[in-house]
Amino acid sequence: MTNILGRIRQHPVPTEAIGDSGVHYDTPPRMFELLLDRNMNYSSGVYARGDEDLDGAQIAKMDKVAAWLDLKPGARLLDVGCGWFGPALYLAERYGVRVTGVTLSPVQREYGLAWAERRGLRDAVHIDVCSVLSMPYPAESFDATMFLESIIHMPPKRQIFERCCALLRPGGRIFVQESDYDRDSKREKYLGDRGNREVDQAFGYTMDMVSAGRMQLEMEEAGLVPYGLENISRDYVLTLTQWLVNLDAHADEMRALSERAYLMLRRYLMIALATYRSGHTVCHMITAEKSGNL
Ligand SMILES: C[S@@+](CC[C@H](N)C(=O)[O-])C[C@H]1O[C@@H](n2cnc3c(N)ncnc32)[C@H](O)[C@@H]1O
Repeated sequence: MTNILGRIRQHPVPTEAIGDSGVHYDTPPRMFELLLDRNMNYSSGVYARGDEDLDGAQIAKMDKVAAWLDLKPGARLLDVGCGWFGPALYLAERYGVRVTGVTLSPVQREYGLAWAERRGLRDAVHIDVCSVLSMPYPAESFDATMFLESIIHMPPKRQIFERCCALLRPGGRIFVQESDYDRDSKREKYLGDRGNREVDQAFGYTMDMVSAGRMQLEMEEAGLVPYGLENISRDYVLTLTQWLVNLDAHADEMRALSERAYLMLRRYLMIALATYRSGHTVCHMITAEKSGNL
């Protein structure tokens, strides 16, 4: 890790790089093709050894999600905050599931559907541009639901889990991977921190981080019984580091695409790395099951 960090060029990034209106996920996808792994995961990978490359760590993460959700061929998977749809397409291809994705970004929807077409998976997928609480699906439409680092943008956690619980069949599972505060009682203090405010502005999306304990509590109250939690904070530090290495490796092309987006991404990743290193931000995988199927 020290070696990787040592390879990141140090240069000052002006605070003006953080805009107040950037809709982060509508940024040209090419920026993210250069930044992320080949499956376009904009969420932490999983490093069993610590020296895996980004592609390998993201595949390990997606296989872990599949195991925790007990995905079987034909299962109906809901991906809330689906990004460019890379994780969903991997799961559709590798595990034979049918995936419905939800995003606020029309750019991501268009990108995901074109990618599905190229991979011969068009019939296995569906993507809607809508907000989480407006998901238009009938009750018990899904066997599994995942939130890969998207629920941070969605404040009413209890309502969201209640909606997802209604959409799951009894015994269906939900998987949440998210950055958390290290303790619930510090939330108000952390919300006022400068880095937090900058990231809020940079994304042009709501940021609503909670602790893992709070997340589980909201799941329980919504009828989702937690059965697994894993701390992947070290994995996130490695992921952020590898994203920064990619950012530097492709700096010229990224800056030509959008100087502003490049600077914003760089600053965001540095802030995220600093908050992880401080120990105040951590990352968890949490799985729960809709009760009533024993
Ligand atoms: C950090 S990206 C994660 C993408 C993807 N899950 C992955 O792992 O690559 C967050 C995603 O959440 C979506 N999102 C944010 N707020 C949302 C909301 N209220 N309803 C639905 N999706 C939302 C964004 O459009 C984006 O696709």
